[in-house]
Amino acid sequence: PPPSSQATTTATNGTVQRLPGAIIIGVRKGGTRALLEMLNLHPDVEVAKAEVHYFNLDENYQRGLDWYRAQMPFTLPGQLTVEKTPGYFAAPLAPERACQMNPAVRLLLIVRDPAERLVSDYTQVLHNRLQRHKPYQPLEELLLLDDDINGGGNDRHTRRIDPGYKALQRSLYHVHFQRWLEHFPREQIHVVDGEALVRDPYPELRKAELFLELPPRIRPSNFYFNATKGFYCLVSAGHDKCLDESKGRPHAPLSQRAFRKLCRFLREHNKRFFDLVGRTFRWC
Ligand code: A3P
Repeated sequence: PPPSSQATTTATNGTVQRLPGAIIIGVRKGGTRALLEMLNLHPDVEVAKAEVHYFNLDENYQRGLDWYRAQMPFTLPGQLTVEKTPGYFAAPLAPERACQMNPAVRLLLIVRDPAERLVSDYTQVLHNRLQRHKPYQPLEELLLLDDDINGGGNDRHTRRIDPGYKALQRSLYHVHFQRWLEHFPREQIHVVDGEALVRDPYPELRKAELFLELPPRIRPSNFYFNATKGFYCLVSAGHDKCLDESKGRPHAPLSQRAFRKLCRFLREHNKRFFDLVGRTFRWC
């Protein structure tokens, strides 16, 4: 078989599938689909439409690099292949595996207020469960521990945050970012501000183009605010495209009190992330 670092399958028009030169590694619910679709506006970028889940899932990783490459779009020489799998960010082995594939691969991380991210994460899981007619628990039950350190029963006002709740763990950005930094230099990870991307996509895309060393091809006119959706949508070759209705949907309810508790819990963790990244964000 050909060496796995080389492109293999050739289509009739001279394009081939190549390993990604850039990967959007997360964060889950951070705006990863929006970022991927927006990068795809660039003529020199081709993206893997579906999430690949190679570095985070053993059963896929065991299929090897040739399988991974076969998930990629067909590209011309000089075009950049990009894939996004938000599950990579918090996956313990993903940094090491991605580095083994290509230590020079460029990484994009889109972040968002980790408290909002948690609620969005819960909302997604909730929708999936509802679709499959499975039972679900309210967010507050998952987020707050039953044991009461003050011995006052299950009064919500005294219940502590459950540090073991999965969606909360995924919001401890510094824990995961630290692991990526053990395998990649800081300059190789470009951090995109998810809230800024929602408010005004163009400046964030311009910065991403610079990071990826792409010529400036994305224009402010590639975006228009769609009042019905309440988000920016894309314009490409005369066609409008908004993201799926699962993107930018109302969040599951959470009491103000619990949300504030969550914010308080995250404050110290967020600070540690700011130190690692070398910039701050205005999160709750
Ligand atoms: P919410 O549904 O919580 O608002 P991901 O693609 O990583 O799952 O992220 C989903 C999030 O992308 C949405 O979370 C939404 O806020 C955000 N987003 C950013 N830009 C968007 C856009 N132009 N259209 C829709 N959603 C967008």
